[in-house]
Amino acid sequence: MKKVLLLAAVFVVGSIGMARAESQADAEFLGVAKCKMCHMKQFKTWENSKHAKTFEALQGDEVKNPDCLKCHTTGLKADGTFVDKGTSCEACHGAGSLHMKAKKEDKKSLITRKPISCANCHNPHISRKMMAEEMRKK
Ligand code: HEC
Ligand code: HEC
Ligand code: HEC
Ligand code: HEC
Repeated sequence: MKKVLLLAAVFVVGSIGMARAESQADAEFLGVAKCKMCHMKQFKTWENSKHAKTFEALQGDEVKNPDCLKCHTTGLKADGTFVDKGTSCEACHGAGSLHMKAKKEDKKSLITRKPISCANCHNPHISRKMMAEEMRKK
């Protein structure tokens, strides 16, 4: 009995320690369907934006090319799978699994309000559209 209690105590202390160390960097991508549950207003504006349709810009084998998927999908993994077609919430706000689970008062600290830089994908001096068109001609 004592042993069980001791183990339980170690477990509880261990998980408190882990909870303290949690940061958004440990979070996983959930996909827009989850964000939508609590953020319908933002979902609606996003749904009608070009970012919701970036995957549809790809043709043929481009839908399997990681060099295209990294900006035209969200949550791309090394094995080529991804969470959302298109540039969804977490492409700008970062992975949201811990934010979703967190208590209300901890939510803000587990999501990025000011987005991860637009310049990760956009460069005003590069037309990706022209690059894609030229690549397709070859
Ligand atoms: C269970 C409900 C819930 C889910 C699911 C959820 N959120 Fe939130 N989110 C909230 C609440 C509540 C707040 C407001 C927190 C506050 O004001 O303290 C919030 C705030 C935010 C903010 C603003 C943070 C700030 O500093 O003002 C962003 C950005 C955000 N959420 C993005 C997301 C994204 C992206 C997803 C999907 C991965 C998501 N949320 C999923 C409930 C949720
Ligand atoms: C670094 C991020 C990034 C990568 C990588 C990327 N794109 Fe894009 N793509 C963008 C951005 C941002 C735009 C919109 C602005 C522009 O045209 O420059 C865009 C626009 C496009 C458009 C025009 C869409 C429209 O509706 O007019 C096409 C087509 C396209 N990309 C195809 C591709 C293909 C094919 C690849 C892979 C060879 C690729 N992109 C790789 C970010 C990227
Ligand atoms: C292209 C990047 C981008 C995408 C995609 C995006 N957001 Fe945002 N989001 C922003 C910016 C920029 C702000 C404003 C930040 C500020 O003013 O501090 C913002 C603000 C927010 C806020 C704070 C409240 C508000 O409305 O200002 C919430 C909540 C939020 N986004 C949720 C979402 C959800 C949910 C999705 C997906 C359905 C999403 N965002 C998709 C860039 C993005
Ligand atoms: C993960 C990559 C990514 C991020 C981050 C991103 N974008 Fe985009 N954005 C794209 C792609 C790809 C397109 C092309 C959509 C299309 O035309 O099919 C696009 C399209 C746009 C368009 C429409 C352009 C047009 O020609 O009509 C605007 C405006 C825009 N983005 C603004 C922003 C802003 C502002 C931010 C930062 C808050 C941002 N984007 C962050 C990938 C991204």
